[in-house]
Amino acid sequence: MIIQICVGSSCHLKGSEQLVKLFQNAVEKYNLDNEVTLAGSFCIGKCNRIGVTIQIDDDIFTGVTPDSFESFFNENVLTRLEKESE
Ligand code: FES
Repeated sequence: MIIQICVGSSCHLKGSEQLVKLFQNAVEKYNLDNEVTLAGSFCIGKCNRIGVTIQIDDDIFTGVTPDSFESFFNENVLTRLEKESE
């Protein structure tokens, strides 16, 4: 699974750096180093008024914030990985 965190200027202003850290911590916490590749990306063209744009494989999510990070990660990373390994 490839997770790209947009670090374009709009997303950067809305907290990309903080989200990169949250992703790094979560990947470490759940020991997902072998399953998940984290990357930064330039503007994905989906700048949102709120939050940061995240691309997971071919799916794009907008408006991710540090507050919504935990539920986002559970739903879109942990649950997906479980499904993929089924
Ligand atoms: S800067 Fe992130 S989608 Fe445009």
